[in-house]
Amino acid sequence: MTGTRTDPPRAPRPARPVRARAVPDSGPPTAELILPVDQLTAIRRELTADTTELATASQWFESDPLWFKRAVFYEIHLRGFADGNADGIGDFVGLTERLDYLSWLGVDCIWLLPMYESPLRDGGYDISDYLRVHHDYGTVDDFVAFVDAAHQRGIRVIADMVMNHTSIDHQWFQEARTPGSPKRDWYVWSDTVERYQDARIIFVDTETSNWTWDPVAGAYYWHRFFSHQPDLNYDNPEVREAMLDVLRYWLDSGLDGFRLDAVPYLFEREGTSCENLPETHAYLKDVRRAIDAEYADRVLLAEANQWPSDVVEYFDGGGECHMAFHFPLMPRMFMAMRRDDAMPIIEILDQTPAIPANTQWGLFLRNHDELTLEMVTDDERDYMYAEYAKDPLMKLNLGIRRRLAPLLDNGRDEIELVTAILFSLPGSPVLYYGDEIGMGDNIYLGDRDGVRTPMQWTGDRNAGFSRADFARLYLPPLMDPVYGYQAVNVEAQLRTPTSLLRWVHRFIDMRKDHPVFGQGSYEALRPSNPRIFAHVRRLDDDIVLAVHNVARSAQAVELDLSGFEGMVPEEMFGRARFPRIGQLPYLLTLAGRGFFWFQLRKDDDD
Ligand code: NOJ
Ligand code: CA
Repeated sequence: MTGTRTDPPRAPRPARPVRARAVPDSGPPTAELILPVDQLTAIRRELTADTTELATASQWFESDPLWFKRAVFYEIHLRGFADGNADGIGDFVGLTERLDYLSWLGVDCIWLLPMYESPLRDGGYDISDYLRVHHDYGTVDDFVAFVDAAHQRGIRVIADMVMNHTSIDHQWFQEARTPGSPKRDWYVWSDTVERYQDARIIFVDTETSNWTWDPVAGAYYWHRFFSHQPDLNYDNPEVREAMLDVLRYWLDSGLDGFRLDAVPYLFEREGTSCENLPETHAYLKDVRRAIDAEYADRVLLAEANQWPSDVVEYFDGGGECHMAFHFPLMPRMFMAMRRDDAMPIIEILDQTPAIPANTQWGLFLRNHDELTLEMVTDDERDYMYAEYAKDPLMKLNLGIRRRLAPLLDNGRDEIELVTAILFSLPGSPVLYYGDEIGMGDNIYLGDRDGVRTPMQWTGDRNAGFSRADFARLYLPPLMDPVYGYQAVNVEAQLRTPTSLLRWVHRFIDMRKDHPVFGQGSYEALRPSNPRIFAHVRRLDDDIVLAVHNVARSAQAVELDLSGFEGMVPEEMFGRARFPRIGQLPYLLTLAGRGFFWFQLRKDDDD
């Protein structure tokens, strides 16, 4: 494993790697950078025991096709996580060194933002070579070593895959733009900008058309995002096959699946919005069939920023994607908090169709993009801007480019409540790196860089992210007195039993003890107090009652729990028993922004 840049731009490609069976990592545990000694010793002991056992196994995981339904995901911007070779840029060596932290935190699956060769005009979503690791991040070997080290710790890894478009720098596009090239038909060309006029523009702050003139090609090319990201032409069977081969390459190298970027836009048809087309679904089903036939336990997670009724099509009875993000839910959790009213959450969940048992929602509060407001009404968008983007610099496209903690005014109760709601819902939570310590953002940086600043590991130089000169860092770490790395960092929060990080750790632990959260049914309760969001999750005998007060003020609520008469609610963190459920409505009082999670137990349970 090295951190050097060993991929020359056009050297022969590495052979497709074979999913490796690595030996246990014998390097020094780097957790001592951040962990107090007593915990470090305990973790070391656990790791030593685990890895010895795992190393003798032929696979790191038992076969478990539904693992993603119970998983907690953690999204990582590789560039910003940990710099292993002191060049100011995060990389696979650095990330591998931080796996002990992620293992301690309890996450089940890492989601990596694009790690491929790219000119980085869109954070790597502009790929110039699908089969190479970006030279800043290391080599394919570093990637394989990282995946193996993650697997040794029981952590799976998925990565972004941008199927819809490439960078203009990609060799395919460079060939395609040459008139008469056999690659010409790999992209979507037109002599006029009149085609596909019903397709919306997504990056409204930068683009005025989905067509851009290419003087070399003598034609316009089609792009749903930046003009430097031409869309591939999925009507061409060679493109469809080439993309499948790209997927195979990374699955062979050990990856557990993909977050399929911009997946609704693969095909175009005149007279339509060019989104969610039947042809797109047909191709995704082909992809799924191929992966199922060749690999076990992999996952496809669709990024389809659409209404629930359209998104469920990506599950297609369980034969297309395994997971899809629930975009419309996300802004409604923030709306509920500001309005002191649970209705936005209840309504969107009411509108969410049931999904097949072998599929799952990906639920999130924040990610590497702006808090998107595409899936809200115009009035709701105005409301969100008025409440959450008071400075115009906070707006981007149809969204708000801020992190979780600043959105919630750094309110600890608010962060805990909204996290509790997220974790209580049917779906798998996806955390964004740094939100577990309440990192802030920097709205003075361009585009979405303000929410992609270096992970704050310690109060030392460069937040413990890199040993490079400060001036060399890919972005400056936060240094303001509230969110700056001297105030907010992993090391300090590990030392503080009451810290947000410790709380998140306990919360993840709790969720993982109860598969009901990932796999149980969901039933909304409808108390007359609109400030209360309460629901029941059930998986066989494991019954959880979750009650959340989204209001700032204390509230009382009467819940109809008649279906559970005779059972005893046991608070899940302290295990205190509450009064037995009788025939009358069950009365609870909650502090402002307070919540209870109860396990409903039979009266004679221990
Ligand atoms: C969605 C990604 O999340 C975003 O970061 C990117 O800019 C667009 N897709 C284009 O690939
Ligand atoms: Ca580096």
